[in-house]
Amino acid sequence: MQIGFYQYRPVFGNVSHNLNKVVKKLSAVQADLIVLPELAFTGYYFRDRAEVKTMAEDPGKSTTVDALTSICKKKKLHLVTGFTEKAKDKYFNSALLIGPKGVEHIYRKIHLFNEETKWFDDGDIPLQVNRIGNVRIGIMICFDWVFPEVTRVLALQGADIICHPSNLVLGYCQQTMLTRCLENKVYAITTNRYGYDKRPHGNLRFTGRSQVVAPGGTLIYRAKSQCDDLLVMDIDPMLARDKSITPLNEVLRDRRPQYYSELNLKQGRKP
Ligand code: ACM
Repeated sequence: MQIGFYQYRPVFGNVSHNLNKVVKKLSAVQADLIVLPELAFTGYYFRDRAEVKTMAEDPGKSTTVDALTSICKKKKLHLVTGFTEKAKDKYFNSALLIGPKGVEHIYRKIHLFNEETKWFDDGDIPLQVNRIGNVRIGIMICFDWVFPEVTRVLALQGADIICHPSNLVLGYCQQTMLTRCLENKVYAITTNRYGYDKRPHGNLRFTGRSQVVAPGGTLIYRAKSQCDDLLVMDIDPMLARDKSITPLNEVLRDRRPQYYSELNLKQGRKP
């Protein structure tokens, strides 16, 4: 399977510029699955929720999604992309799985990071694995990496590849994803943007270093921090079906959930 990512630097608020850049780049690739960054077309550092409202789109009526669908159709490609989603009177930090026939799944970020909690509504769709042929992909967004439950649930649902659109500003995630891939024996494609969002209310710098990690926790490829990088590479997703970690241990089968009851009982953020 040919998988990859496109690491780039969206220009804040300039959806058509960012879309043209991505479409042009994707027109030159031959791949089965490409992952784009979080909030890939609007940029990240919103002033407030009112500003999100001016840019968010309903994926069902979105010229951005239409353009991405036609490139998927032309190239027989699947994309996982961050998307600033409007759904009636709600606004989500979402990721879309788009194929040749259009949107196949929407994931809405369930762990909002820092000021995102002021701009977006909490994700309200259960984690779900989707198929591309016989390969199963799970989607999470950026800060979800801090919560190992997310990767674990996707792995328990049978995910072979975790698609992870990101806009990382801290330095911990890339290294931590090696562990997520080891403890679940899955692949992960973390696509992170780079550059700055320079806004009147402050500046944010994003850390790039997009990467692909194999099921043993091995780093297959990591981009540099501050440059465009389009990666396409061949992987064997079926390697993620082998969950053994010693001759006598498997990472999912050998769990002892009867000793993990606090995971169910302790209430986190209100639903
Ligand atoms: C993040 O979740 N964008 C850090």
